[in-house]
Amino acid sequence: MKGNKKLIEVALPLDAINLESLRRKQKAPKGWPTSFHKWWAQRPLAAARAVIFAQLVDDPSSYVDVLRADRLLHRKAETALKARLKLWEEASTLAKKAKGSNLAVSEPGLAPTLDDILADQERQRLFRIIENLVMWDNTNNETVLQAARNEIWQSWRRACAENADHPRAKDLFDRHKLPSFCDPFAGSGSLPLSAQWLGLETYASDLNPVAVLINKAMIEIPPKFAGKPPVNPASRQDESLIARQWRGAQGLAEDVRYYSQWMREEAENRIGHLYPTTTVTAAMTRERPDLKKYEGEKLTAIAWLWTRTVKSPNPAFAQVDVPLTTTFMLSTKAGKEVYVEPVIANGDYHFEVRVGKPRDAKVATTGTKLARGANFRCVMSGTPIAGDYVKAEGKAGRIGARLMALVGEGERGRVYLSPTPEMEDIALTAHPTWKPDTPLAPDLRALWTPLYGLATFGDHFTPRQLVGLTTFSDLVQEARKRAEQDAIAAGLPSDGKSLAMAGTGAAAYADAVCTYLACVLDRMVYYGSSLTSWLPKDNALRDCMPRQGLAMTWDFAEANPLGKSSGDVLTCSKSISNYLDVATPFTRAVASQQDAQSMLIGKAPYVFSTDPPYYDNIGYADLSDFFYVWLRRSLKSVFPELFATLAVPKAEELIASPYRHGSKEGAQAFFLDGMTKAMSRLAEQAHPAFPVTIYYAFKQTESDDTDGTTNTGWDTFLDAVIRAGFSITGTWPMRTEGAGRMIAAGTNALASSIVLVCRPLNIDAPTATRREFVATLKAELPHALANLQRGNIAPVDLAQAAIGPGMAVYTRFSKVLDAEGNTLSVREALSLINQTLDEALAEQEGDFDADSRWALTWFEQSGFDEGEYGVAEQLSKSKNTSVAGMDLAGILESDHGKVRLLRPEELPSDWDPVTDSRLSEWEIVHHLIRVLSSGGESAAGALVGKLGAKAEIARELAYRLYTLCERKKRAPEALAYNGLVQSWPEIVRLAREGGQPRAEQVGLFGATEE
Ligand SMILES: C[S@@+](CC[C@H](N)C(=O)[O-])C[C@H]1O[C@@H](n2cnc3c(N)ncnc32)[C@H](O)[C@@H]1O
Repeated sequence: MKGNKKLIEVALPLDAINLESLRRKQKAPKGWPTSFHKWWAQRPLAAARAVIFAQLVDDPSSYVDVLRADRLLHRKAETALKARLKLWEEASTLAKKAKGSNLAVSEPGLAPTLDDILADQERQRLFRIIENLVMWDNTNNETVLQAARNEIWQSWRRACAENADHPRAKDLFDRHKLPSFCDPFAGSGSLPLSAQWLGLETYASDLNPVAVLINKAMIEIPPKFAGKPPVNPASRQDESLIARQWRGAQGLAEDVRYYSQWMREEAENRIGHLYPTTTVTAAMTRERPDLKKYEGEKLTAIAWLWTRTVKSPNPAFAQVDVPLTTTFMLSTKAGKEVYVEPVIANGDYHFEVRVGKPRDAKVATTGTKLARGANFRCVMSGTPIAGDYVKAEGKAGRIGARLMALVGEGERGRVYLSPTPEMEDIALTAHPTWKPDTPLAPDLRALWTPLYGLATFGDHFTPRQLVGLTTFSDLVQEARKRAEQDAIAAGLPSDGKSLAMAGTGAAAYADAVCTYLACVLDRMVYYGSSLTSWLPKDNALRDCMPRQGLAMTWDFAEANPLGKSSGDVLTCSKSISNYLDVATPFTRAVASQQDAQSMLIGKAPYVFSTDPPYYDNIGYADLSDFFYVWLRRSLKSVFPELFATLAVPKAEELIASPYRHGSKEGAQAFFLDGMTKAMSRLAEQAHPAFPVTIYYAFKQTESDDTDGTTNTGWDTFLDAVIRAGFSITGTWPMRTEGAGRMIAAGTNALASSIVLVCRPLNIDAPTATRREFVATLKAELPHALANLQRGNIAPVDLAQAAIGPGMAVYTRFSKVLDAEGNTLSVREALSLINQTLDEALAEQEGDFDADSRWALTWFEQSGFDEGEYGVAEQLSKSKNTSVAGMDLAGILESDHGKVRLLRPEELPSDWDPVTDSRLSEWEIVHHLIRVLSSGGESAAGALVGKLGAKAEIARELAYRLYTLCERKKRAPEALAYNGLVQSWPEIVRLAREGGQPRAEQVGLFGATEE
């Protein structure tokens, strides 16, 4: 087969992709697909679109003859070539002159050619297409999408023409039909959705029925009813709606809105008495003048804020249910502080809401919490309440709850009211008739609530929440019946053929509506359990899973499903209908439940881009049962096969979970074996004209060696990829996690995932000795490292990103043999890659000025602590500088025989690089950190504007410093250096454009924990 190199194997506009990914992680726009349903490790759409596009289009080096024949391009390239040649000649002259001196000047490489320039120019054109394509705002911009699709078709037709004489040309190279796309680990569908946007027929599969359902709802159903008007009677009676054009899934969106409203009204009739309004009385305003403006008004509750309780362990108060509260603050908004005070009287306590700053801020902020875990104090006596006691009480079913406050909907914001016994009593009148009794898995790495007696999923909801959710679940099914009748009345065929039977008539349409309403219900579940909490800084609800696990929420918020909050039915409905409003792709998509180890979908071969599980990071199946139990209740009759089992199937899930496989070793063996099978299925079914792209992310903090770079998660995964017959032809670090992710805050968690570009292993590849392998690494890794840094990879991810180019060298050989003739394992290869990377980083030190080189070595030994003057002076001689000079330059303090480097916050705030006569890279980095921390990215941008090109080398120093700090386990400093690099693109943009910062800036240490 004649195959062309694809763009992804050569170049990608990483900055543009990463900036857009980050922007969308920080603030989700209306209709954002990842707000549709909770999933874990959702890939950013910007990355997904760019990767698939670049995997489909040829790199220009493979059609440079066509470019050469274009007179205009030719002329433009000739002009550029002249300039480039001039630069190249200057660089070679300099390198020649530097030889023999002790100056380090690298050779400029081969002279540029006209073909190089032509290919470069064409790449820039393709980059512009990608830069437009990745922007969410262009999602429905047909011009942008069509430009991308045209490019894909052009490359495809080229491949078909070149392979016209291929023996399987008819199956493999049909110039009228693009190959289909497949993602066998589809999750919430970011990759399949992107392929569909690009115009490919798309197959999405996953083992997990919840993931399959999400893909059905997002990509399979919309094209089936594309362009159809809504069927609900209100829309059909409205002349203006009948006349309008219904694009994409907008008709479905309108029906989701209508039936959600209908469900709300029905629910109000059936269970509205459980959610009464509260009248603000004169008695209430006496204590709280701020309520005066509401006197006589009936306030609708947004949420009730509860605290869990246990009996006091102090025998004197053994009958008192004391609160386990992590904070008494209800609102921390400046000038709008509200808190709750436990008032102790007559051997008991009750809560009163107070407005204003608390007298004792510490107590108000920390509630009755004493330390990490379930350690509290008795509010009556101050006696500590140990975690073990709380656990024992929980397991005995004796953890209770007490109402702390009611949040009402005021004219201009939230109104907090003190609780009354009536409010608590009403909640107690709720008697659910159904409760999901599926037990939680015994995975104590992620599911912590069973430790406190919440053994089944049903235990995570209050009785009133269960009544609310089961009522809505019943209504989902009733709405389905209404929708079918309405659809028949609207003229859809009454063929009785369901969606699962590939129907397209009234029954199938009603199934589709029912599917979306079940997703609305899942959104209510997400915000409607006793794990949902209240965010005092935002005065809003926080979902039940800010971590990739189920953790106890001690003070929880019970949302009113009929009030106005993230948890009410109409707000939840918007997340679904807003997506449908923008969902316009028309290409066919199929979502199915398959085990990737044995998958056979439709007609191979496929273009694969996929994102398999990351070793033991996330237990998708265990977590998704939280939603499955509710989906199953509403949708079992619509998708009987998908919801056949009582819980999400777990046995074949490809994660290395020790509790399922008896031990860590058992889990590793299962993962390696299963992942090898899955990767082999990819290799067998991949279209030969395209590389396969695979995302992989694994936390550095989980590494199991001292240098923090090799870990079982990576070894085992790469082993599987290579055993399956792939070689790695490229790797790209993609910014996939937001800085504000809870898991990332305050930790060194991975911010990027790595996209591996794979091709079948060349069976004729030569073998290499260990020595040859190391020599090739040494020749290639420094260049790859520089490229990664230029791509602004977060320092925290550098070591893992370098695995890619290192493994590309490893898989270039059929085998690497050690001195005894044994094959070098992936683990050994990774260790050599890391060593080489370290050396390459150390070599970069030669590029820094003398003061910075001194400071680096000193910092490695002493950090910002004091050290002996004598040692400092001796070191300064070897680095060709002096302590006195550096003291004057303002980077250190030398006093009484001691020397110490100044911390960023100690540096002078009126520093001006323009007037600094001894400017060092060290100074630049630390002043930038100071300015970034105090004035944000715009202030740092202004400083970089003054520094000009000098700032760039300082970024290299930040990488080096990060690596040092990480090795020395100096976490706060490491975070500061990492933060500087991560903010770099925005700082440079601001410096260049002198522009305004975006509304949401990334702070130096990322967003703080919510
Ligand atoms: C990293 S997630 C994919 C996330 C997805 N790219 C997104 O953006 O939401 C990995 C997925 O692999 C699925 N999975 C795990 N074991 C599987 C198996 N044996 N076959 C198919 N899918 C599996 C999990 O259910 C999970 O959805």
